[in-house]
Formats: sequence, structure tokens, C-alpha cells
Amino acid sequence: MTAPHPTAPATDTDLVPDGHAVVPPWWRQAVVYQVYPRSFADADGDGLGDIAGIVSRADYLAELGVDAVWLSPFYPSALADGGYDVADYRDVDPRLGTLEDLDALVTALHTRGIKVVVDIVPNHTSDQHRWFQEALAAGRGSAARERYIFREGTGPDGSLPPTDWESTFGGPAWTRVADGQWYLHNFAAEQPDLNWDHREVRDDFLTTLRFWSDRGVDGFRIDVAHMLTKDLSEPLPSAAELKALPRDGNHPLHDRDDVHEVYAEWRTVLNSYDPPRAAVAEAWVDSARVPLYARPESLGQSFNFDLLLAEPDAAQFRRLVTDNLELASRSGSSSTWVLSNHDVVRHATRYGLPRGDGSRDPRERGADWLLRGGPEEELDRDLGLRLARAATLFVLGLPGSTYLYQGEELGLHEVADIPADRRQDPTFARTGGAHVGRDGCRVPLPWTAEGGSFGFGAGGAHLPQPAWFARHAADVQDGDPDSTLTLYRRALALRRTLQTAERLEWVGTGREDVVHYVRPHGWHVVTNTGTEPYRVAGDLERLLASVPGDGPDVPGGSTAWFRSRRSSAGL
Ligand code: NOJ
Repeated sequence: MTAPHPTAPATDTDLVPDGHAVVPPWWRQAVVYQVYPRSFADADGDGLGDIAGIVSRADYLAELGVDAVWLSPFYPSALADGGYDVADYRDVDPRLGTLEDLDALVTALHTRGIKVVVDIVPNHTSDQHRWFQEALAAGRGSAARERYIFREGTGPDGSLPPTDWESTFGGPAWTRVADGQWYLHNFAAEQPDLNWDHREVRDDFLTTLRFWSDRGVDGFRIDVAHMLTKDLSEPLPSAAELKALPRDGNHPLHDRDDVHEVYAEWRTVLNSYDPPRAAVAEAWVDSARVPLYARPESLGQSFNFDLLLAEPDAAQFRRLVTDNLELASRSGSSSTWVLSNHDVVRHATRYGLPRGDGSRDPRERGADWLLRGGPEEELDRDLGLRLARAATLFVLGLPGSTYLYQGEELGLHEVADIPADRRQDPTFARTGGAHVGRDGCRVPLPWTAEGGSFGFGAGGAHLPQPAWFARHAADVQDGDPDSTLTLYRRALALRRTLQTAERLEWVGTGREDVVHYVRPHGWHVVTNTGTEPYRVAGDLERLLASVPGDGPDVPGGSTAWFRSRRSSAGL
């Protein structure tokens, strides 16, 4: 077994009232690695990744050097939305293992000094959940239907949906049940939205938080944290009216101020544990409203998706980092940095696509990429990976926590070539194939260059793996000094010795396409997103770079970390 990590330097100064520093919460400066369990490692050979598979790779995670693992849903699910349709929040999908297996995983990771974060999906259940089955059986007007959002239809015979709202995955947001009523689902039809005005719904999620906290889980990632509470008073607005309404805390469906009443209750439960359990919001809201979720009395931390939506462009990076550090300081939280996750086209691929002309909002351009998938013929694989490595070293040098997505450490690209009949993402079917969906970043990982399913398991893989996965296999990269896996390992090991909570200072470069910041202990990070090399000034020793090289030159499309030969502690 790999030895536990040395303790990260306690530099994040949370002060107790008498002015003494206390041990900083682990999540403030953590590297959190997202595991998508059904695609990580398959121990029983049924083609679906499982909990025992993750346990079997615990040493890999320790060697990679991550501080925490976030597990996407592993709960019983009909897999209408990759597990984000949860049939039972307090159990493990039998195809993935048992609660005892989950306990063994928590122990295996804790023994290696790695924290565990699990996913909570509170906006909707699966239609297979006991509550929804009860609601269907009990009929209109029943108490069981009150836990969800049922309405009568419109039109002379109620055969039209209550409104013209569209679901996030395309198609109508209402589905009709046998007795003629309609229920609301902001995502797939198999994901009915819960009624968060219902006390039993609120209490049940408190029970779920306690259930996993009692089992030793260290934190929670909250799915679509901004959508739980709704104002559905009649008359309901049309889709066009909804779109026109400001998102100022009073919008009927999005980012309502009253959702924080829910999280205040959650926080009380999370803080009743020692140490308090962490929570991070997945809240796709206006940047200015992100701090509401990151306040200590709410969830405590919130994903910042700005870099994920940005071009690999030094000027954009600098502006977004400056803005987000300011937002983080407003909430008292630390910032988070994300380049890839299970919902978006992998960043190596995004960066290999033709650049936008700059005339559109990068948020829209990002959304476009993620919905459309990478048009493979336009992809420059080498450039994409080169820029991805540069961007990763750029974010790993920043203050705050960084979320990594499984496979990015192998330099994986999106898998664009998945036949229609193998696609699983509901987006694909609900848009008639117009949006390919997110399967391309969820293809089971290649562990070995040889063997069926590239070492994922003894059987097949639930999504088809392309032949080029062999080049990216973990066993090929292990020990190769220039591989992406080695780069991540070295970066995370160095970061562990250098990271602090202190802010950064920008250093002028005189170039729009080169960004340079310095952190305490004379840690310099220089990113060149242009094509011409940049020579860094000062008495600096090179620590690590995203492309092979030496000396003060930072080639185009690369990041280098340096350390000032003169500095000991301060900037
Ligand atoms: C966000 C999750 O990240 C995504 O995968 C899921 O489809 C939706 N929420 C609905 O739960």
C-alpha cells in the first residue's frame, strides 16, 4: 500500500474568537478527484464499474496525490440519467456492490489519507423511487402526490401540459400519468421534481445527510443546488415569460433566495459532526450570486465553472481568476477551479477545436460545445492536449481547491464516435440526436494497453472504447517522464509542499497571451497561450513544466512553474 500523504501545510488561517489559529478545513485547498463509478474500474466483469473496482485502484489514487475523491451517484438507479435518477438515497446499486463495500471503500481511502465526498441529488428522484411509485398508485389529490409537483393539464380535456416549459435535456418538462394528471420534471421524464415545500421531503434529506455522515463520509456535492425551491403559484408563466424574468432570487424556478432556508438546515446537521461535513454546490447561477451558496451558513463552497467555459486564453484566464477570487472573498469561502467533469466535453478536446472568433460570450460557446460534442474532424488532438496540460498546471497553482475529472490525468480526449444505439445520455434521445450528449466523457477508463476493455474489467465496457485508448492507458504512461500521468503526479506532489491559502499577485508580462502570477514561497506560475516563446525574468529555478524544456523559456501553449532562488516565505 502507498503511504498516507504528509499533512498539507496548515496555512489557511481560520481564527477562533481568541485569535488562535485552528486547523483549516481540508476542503479549502484540496485537490478533489471525481470518480464516475460506473466507468472507473469493473471488479466483477459485468461491464459496469463498481465499488470494489474503485477499492482496487485506491493505491493509484494515492499515488496520483489527490486529497479527496468525489463519487458521482452509486445509488440504486434505473440509469435513465447515468445514476442521477436515484431510486434510494441510502443504499448502493446492487450492480455496484453493497453498503459494506462502500464502507470498505471509505476505509481504503481514509487509510491512504484521502477524504470521501458523495453526490446528493435533491431536485428530483427516480421515477422508480418508492415515493413516486406511491404517488402513481395513490392517484390525484392524494398525500403521496404532494411530495412531487402534479398539476391538471390544459385544453378542453386536460390533454395539453400545464405549461410549455422545456426540460433541460430537451422535450417537454411535463409528463402525463395514466389518470390524466401531469408531473413536472426539469430533466428526464424518469426524474420527477420533488416538492421542496413539503416538510417530509426536507426531513428525509436531513436523514440522508446523517446516514452518510455517520458512515464516515467527509462531504457532499449537491446536484443542481439552485433548483430545489420553486414558486408555482397560479397562473404559471409561459416559457417565454420565464426566460424574461430576472434571476434575482425571486425567479419561479431558478436560484431562489428561499433555497438557502433548506441549506441552513443542512448546515446545522453538517456542523453537528466533528469535523463538520463539507458541501459544495453545483449551482449554475450568475457569478454574483455564487457566494450565496458558498457562505459558511449555507453549503460552504460552490463550483466556479467560469474557467470550464472559457477559451484557453491568458487574458480570459487572468480576468476570470481575478473575478472569482474576489467572489470567494465575499463569501469567506475558498474558490474552486474546474476544467472538466462528467457533464462537459473533456478540456483536451475543447482546446483542440477551432477557437471562437471572440464575438460570443464564452459561456454560450462553452454550452454549445458541451451540448454538441466535439466534431472529430475539426479536432487537433496534439494541440488540445498540449493546451489542456498547460491549463491544468495554471489552475493547480491557484489558491483554492481544484476538481479533477477521472481520465484527464491520462490526457483523454472526448470519445466522439459512439454509435447511436450505444448512447445512454437522455439528451441524445430527447433531442432526436441533435445533441449528442455527455457519453463521450464517460467511456470506461483504459488502465492497460492490452486486454479486453483495456483493463477496465474482465468483461466488456458499457460504452464502447476506441482503439486510441491504448495510447493513453495508465500502464503505458506509468514511469514515462513525459506522460500526462507523470505530469499530474509531479504537479500534485509539488503542490502539496507549496500550496497555501494566500492570495496571488499578478506579474506584468507585457503580453496579452502570457499570464504570470506568484504565490508565497516564491512559487511562480507562467502560462503562455500564444505561439511565440516567452522568456521569464528574474532569478528563477524551473520546477515543472507542461512541455519538456529547460531554463527561463516558456514555449507557446505551455505552463511552467518556477521557484524564486531568493524567496523563502513571502512573495
Ligand atoms: C447535474 C449533473 O451533474 C448531471 O449529470 C445530471 O444529469 C443533472 N444534474 C440532473 O441530475
